[in-house]
Amino acid sequence: MKDSKHYYITTPIYYASGKLTVGHCYSTVLADINARFHRLNGDQVFFATGSDEHGLKIARVAEQNGMTPKEFVDKTVGEFKDIWKRLDITYDKFIRTTDEEHIKLVEKIYNKLYESGDIYLGKYKGLYCVPCETFFTESQLVDGNCPDCGRPVEMTEEECYFLRLSKYQDFLENVFKQNPDFLVPESRKNEIFNNFIKPGISDLCVSRTTFDWGIKLPFNHKHVAYVWIDALLNYLSILGYDTDHDEDFKNFWPCDVHVVGRDITRFHAIIWPILLKMMGLPLPKQIHSTGFITLKGDKISKSKSNGFNPLSLVDRYGADALRYYLAKLGPIFSDSPYTAEQFVNTVNSDLCNDLGNLVSRTLAMITQYNGGIIPEPKLEDTEEKDLMTLASDLFKKCSEHMNTQRVDLYVNEIFAVIRSANKYIDITEPWRLAKDPSKKDKLDTVLYTLSETLRIVTVLLQAVMFEVPAKIFVKFGTPSDLQTFDSIKSFKKDNFSLKVNKGENLFPRLDVAKEIEFLDTPNTPQTTTVEQKPTKQETISEDKANTVNYITIDDFDKVKLLTGKILNSEYIEGADKLLKNTVKIGDEIRTICSGIRKYYEPKDVIGKTVVVVSNLPPRKLRGIESAGMLLCAVDDKNDKLSLITLDRDLGDGLEVC
Ligand code: ME8
Repeated sequence: MKDSKHYYITTPIYYASGKLTVGHCYSTVLADINARFHRLNGDQVFFATGSDEHGLKIARVAEQNGMTPKEFVDKTVGEFKDIWKRLDITYDKFIRTTDEEHIKLVEKIYNKLYESGDIYLGKYKGLYCVPCETFFTESQLVDGNCPDCGRPVEMTEEECYFLRLSKYQDFLENVFKQNPDFLVPESRKNEIFNNFIKPGISDLCVSRTTFDWGIKLPFNHKHVAYVWIDALLNYLSILGYDTDHDEDFKNFWPCDVHVVGRDITRFHAIIWPILLKMMGLPLPKQIHSTGFITLKGDKISKSKSNGFNPLSLVDRYGADALRYYLAKLGPIFSDSPYTAEQFVNTVNSDLCNDLGNLVSRTLAMITQYNGGIIPEPKLEDTEEKDLMTLASDLFKKCSEHMNTQRVDLYVNEIFAVIRSANKYIDITEPWRLAKDPSKKDKLDTVLYTLSETLRIVTVLLQAVMFEVPAKIFVKFGTPSDLQTFDSIKSFKKDNFSLKVNKGENLFPRLDVAKEIEFLDTPNTPQTTTVEQKPTKQETISEDKANTVNYITIDDFDKVKLLTGKILNSEYIEGADKLLKNTVKIGDEIRTICSGIRKYYEPKDVIGKTVVVVSNLPPRKLRGIESAGMLLCAVDDKNDKLSLITLDRDLGDGLEVC
């Protein structure tokens, strides 16, 4: 039977239909921070993630890419694992819904529920959103489209097996009434309860016959399992439930926290508890529903083509910077906008200014004033008492935040102490104390208090980052027994005599304008879309139009593409990516800055007739107003780029359509 020292946390299993975005990193990093915290706390942790690999959407995308579904998901899952490795995600097991053991469990559960009468055969006619793999009623649609993703739904009619959810109406209402923390936050709980549970739960169609990329129902091979039943059962199959090696299930079920985005909360809060009740299993303790990371007001999403490759941030700024940025976003239940400016400023202000400076100032002073040895504290004046109290209380406060998965409050609490420590330096002015031999005791006390405070915050930061805390421990010569949670439950006074090693700065200061330009420049890998493009356009039948995110001709019409002749081009001082081009478009002469400097010299582009996106609003790049964008073909893999030019000299100012 599970005891309180066993902690089980899960992420959603992500659709293997395309590349992951920084949004998927959000839920995974949040869960990883929780898992690391509990491990440091001495708990036995099982941290689960994985991939959701069945369903019509994946079958269609695979076909568009000229692959079998299995070939396609194998490739995608390889990419998932690569991203998690680069972000140092410490999952204990990765489940794939194509794993043999998972398939067997899904078959067994379908059989069991069919025999018990909770699954029965019926007919379904309804509106189905293929990208979301979800049925909706007419009243749930928004402007006639899917309420989750806004795309058109399809009318589908088929014989199908139903899950008798309606029978469990009272049960589910009681779950919500008796367990106020079953679903957090409160606002989401109320929304789900009032909009979806209270009006009455309908039976759910849990099999499909119109495609076969799924788990065949053992009692009728014409049907495959509904992806959401298939997917939810991953939380059990990953633990070896109902096998002869079910130790993990015995130790870790019920789950402590399912981390889910707000879009999939409904499935976890309605179908999942009822399914578990049908199986006679205890319910998870909590479903934690996070907000979205948005870009220009829209959810960052692979299917909305606004998702950029999160590895571009990891490559340039390191995994710790991205992990910290995601941890700090909040409140984690609300949507949080991503902007390049906010990302760069967070790295500069928190990591470089607050943490980096505290580390380098403390090390420099210990090196200069005490021969590189942490001195023994001698006094206890009000100012160190204040800082010591803050540092002593930090573990308790952080633990409380982690009990409610408030990773955002956890990092804010740590950084508040870091800022207080920097203030303490400003108040005590150690450089003055060092000039007066009679103040040696005070100076020693200040240096000690700073290094002990830093030790406490660094121990806690191990849940959030992995490289930075390790580097700080090396710099301060911190032995492993002083890197544990047990060692920071109080402010110790006997950690002196350790030898420090200044070394390099932790975080180089970023040039804000340059980094924003890098992150925002069109054509950098950062802003390229990650949506899978169909490779065999001509073979795409009409019914697939819904999944490839086609735009209408009216949408295309909004983009005014014109030919333009580059009259002049020059370098911009200090901008290593941009060329400033003077472009003639009919009667108009415009300045257009373009991120092509790495690929072209000014002399190579002068005279070319290119394609200009002419109706973008002007914006300042490096202080120069740029009016438009030059279209390019980008080969990210081989780091090549080509301007789109005309193969006949038709002149400038012409419409491209
Ligand atoms: O829904 N901001 O998979 P999925 C924050 N396979 N979180 C985001 C996000 C964003 N912009 N974009 C994605 C599925 N997420 C199912 C899950 S679980 C049994 C089956 C996160 O690939 C968020 O947690 O569409 C969301 O719920 C999840 O990724 C959806 O990932």
